[in-house]
Amino acid sequence: MLASLFDDIKYLLRARNNVVAMWPKSYYRKELITVRLPTRLMFIVNNPAGVQHVMVSNEQNYRKSPLNSQTLKPLLGNGLFVSNGELWARQRKVTAPSTHGSRLPEYAKTIIACGQGMIADWRALPPGHVVEVTEPFTLVTAEIISQLMFGFPLQERGQVLYHAFKEYSASHGRVHLFEFLGLPSWLPRPGGWRGRRAVRRFDRVLLDILKAGQARDPQSPPTLLDMLINYRDPQGQPMAPDLMRDEMASIFLAGHETTALTLGWAFFLLSQHPEVEQRVHEEIDRVLGDRAVGFEDVPQLTYARAVIDETLRLYPPVHIFSREAIGDDVISGQRVPAGSYITIASWLLHRHEKYWEEPKAFRPERFLPPQAQKLQHFAYIPFGTGSRVCMGKHLGLLEVTLLFALVAQSFRLRVPEGVVIEPLGRMTLRPSPAMPLRLERRR
Ligand code: HEM
Repeated sequence: MLASLFDDIKYLLRARNNVVAMWPKSYYRKELITVRLPTRLMFIVNNPAGVQHVMVSNEQNYRKSPLNSQTLKPLLGNGLFVSNGELWARQRKVTAPSTHGSRLPEYAKTIIACGQGMIADWRALPPGHVVEVTEPFTLVTAEIISQLMFGFPLQERGQVLYHAFKEYSASHGRVHLFEFLGLPSWLPRPGGWRGRRAVRRFDRVLLDILKAGQARDPQSPPTLLDMLINYRDPQGQPMAPDLMRDEMASIFLAGHETTALTLGWAFFLLSQHPEVEQRVHEEIDRVLGDRAVGFEDVPQLTYARAVIDETLRLYPPVHIFSREAIGDDVISGQRVPAGSYITIASWLLHRHEKYWEEPKAFRPERFLPPQAQKLQHFAYIPFGTGSRVCMGKHLGLLEVTLLFALVAQSFRLRVPEGVVIEPLGRMTLRPSPAMPLRLERRR
């Protein structure tokens, strides 16, 4: 008994450091895995029908679990990403118009302008310069989300946010051993003070944004911030200031790091696959030549989009989903008692030997016809699925495609000799080190 508890703790300590490195080889073949935690059961649901059951057909029986919320709550409070039930449903309805498809053509202009700013900075660097691209990609995507959602140019505050997030991720971004062990939430968590310092820095920027938002011209198209400020409940009451702050924090976090990481992994994969890179360049040169990319070019960039889809398969920024069963259930023939934790690891599912041919190979063609018809919908969930599907899915894809085209048009990125880049599964799937790539000018 004691030996098995010791083994479990050793396993969790490994997971705490890097979730994706701890998955045993056999998990890439299994359909469902049962893990006995000290206080409850955890099921890793690793097959498309099971995913569909938990996230779509019986989703009302599942809520975001403490494994997820304890990592994110100090930063996101009761925001959209972690809330449940009626609060979540109401807030999703209030905020969803901000990412509606009809807004995308106008959003594309901001994305392109911000992307061009980054390219201009890169052009000013000496040839062959090595950049840890996680930083500029995070800064540019933070700038974009701030301008689109809050009508607020971040500029130098972007650096403050970048470092605050980094600090938060280092302190809170690991798997929470305390939650796995079932320890009560009032017990102080390790790394707490660093996390709180990061949250305080972050909050100062949010306050600046809020002040500027309250002074905005009412004639300009409504941003997500306007939607929060102008909200009135059926009794005519405005949204509570804390909740407004939590929603702003959630959109900020959800809306930039994922996009930045996708771009980094996409260029990493291109650097390892010159034949794919060649096809990307041919497509971009054919569609764009020397002119700047625009919203209307996106449908022509089909191969670039397949590269992005395949990047999201191999390196999904949200690599793990955590839920808690509200009532008893049966998943894939397995009895699941109320209170069990459910883990869906898109990292495993996207590399599952039964559902993907040559799962480890980088093959963008699988997302193009005719092969794309063979894809199993619930074996590929980079944006989640069901009613909790990513609210910014289409915006995120548009943003990655436009920024990808802008960079690939001008630069070839290379991993410097001797550098090994590994995925680090924490709160998100980050590269370690922070994706140093050498910039080679194409034009
Ligand atoms: C490549 C880019 C992105 C990826 C891979 C991604 C991925 C995801 C995933 C997997 C979830 C679901 C998590 C779960 O079910 O537990 C999610 C939720 C969410 N995402 Fe994204 N996301 C991206 C971009 C964006 C952008 C640009 C926004 C900006 C508006 C955004 C806003 C959100 C929000 C608000 C949620 C919570 C939705 C809810 O629970 O109702 N995401 N995202």
